[in-house]
Amino acid sequence: MFKPLYNPKKLLLSLLIGSTLSSFAYAEKIVVAHRGASGYLPEHSMAAKSMAYAMDVDYIEQDVVMTKDNALVVLHDHYLDGVTNVADRYPGRQRKDGRYYAIDFTLAEIKTLEMTEAFKMKDGKAKAVYARRFPIWASDFKVHTLEEEIEMIQGLNISTGKNIGIYTEVKAPWFHRHEGKDISTAVLKVFKKYGYTEKEDLAYFQSFDAEELKRVKFELLPKFNMDVKLVQLIAETSWGETMQYIDGKPEAYNYDWMFKPGAMKIISKYADGVGPWHPMVVAPESTKDKLVFTSMVKDAHQAGMKVHPYTFRLDEGQIPAYAQDFDNLLDIFYNQANVDGVFTDFPDRAVDFLKRQNNH
Ligand code: G3P
Ligand code: CA
Repeated sequence: MFKPLYNPKKLLLSLLIGSTLSSFAYAEKIVVAHRGASGYLPEHSMAAKSMAYAMDVDYIEQDVVMTKDNALVVLHDHYLDGVTNVADRYPGRQRKDGRYYAIDFTLAEIKTLEMTEAFKMKDGKAKAVYARRFPIWASDFKVHTLEEEIEMIQGLNISTGKNIGIYTEVKAPWFHRHEGKDISTAVLKVFKKYGYTEKEDLAYFQSFDAEELKRVKFELLPKFNMDVKLVQLIAETSWGETMQYIDGKPEAYNYDWMFKPGAMKIISKYADGVGPWHPMVVAPESTKDKLVFTSMVKDAHQAGMKVHPYTFRLDEGQIPAYAQDFDNLLDIFYNQANVDGVFTDFPDRAVDFLKRQNNH
């Protein structure tokens, strides 16, 4: 069907509210519920997403991986063993590295699993990553699909009259490509199906993979007649977050160029924002008496991009020593570093902070 070059409803709305108000709204600081309200309920569970929704966040995050039968499921890792009982339910289905890969299971198989708070195995026992969060194996949580989550968020947008967005990360596109799957195309098709097609729609598409983001920007978005907001996530090279196959061997993608002068300008050619790790904005050598800000926010703003650092947590040991408490940490980032939004596991605290500032 012919798609008009403009959306008549959106055009009328922007004429009604005027360009001043719409650019003011865009200038507001945002809260992204990182894996939902994951400080309170198991990450990426539908319950954590509903709780985040009720906290009046601006966007709810989805990390997405693919299954054997090409379903998109909402999981932080492309492994199942850190948040489910896959090892008990499907013994022997792990790969040589001992991990159970979501891509080796069908959606129907994954739906049989119990999901829980993130854990690591220690001396044969599951130990919660964050000791004081929701207890592991309590209650009943399941892995769900990207479509199921979007339908819940959009359903709540109808039933509550609020308008909360999605902030979706394609996980490890390099890995999916190596396994013969195109995760970015699959996610963009879901975006299109649910009406997220233009920059002003309440959706962000995020990735750590610069080459994949350029492919999305210059190849896939034009192909699907879409233009959604793109965010370049920034990692330390040593994390091995993005790999490249060189002569068949995986090597860590080198992020060093993203910290050099002119980098934000380069990124702005294909992205609308950056998502740095928070020490890339407020340097770790900062003290209570002397905060050290990198030039990333200023450079990104000069290049016309938003800055949404990750991840702000209240758990023991997670508040940097230079901050007095969580509120002070939010003040340092929102007000002093001047970021445009934060990813946080405790989104109620950030919403409350911004409301007290009349900025939400
Ligand atoms: O996507 C922003 C933030 O979530 C990046 O870190 O590892 O939690 O996906 P991660
Ligand atoms: Ca993420």
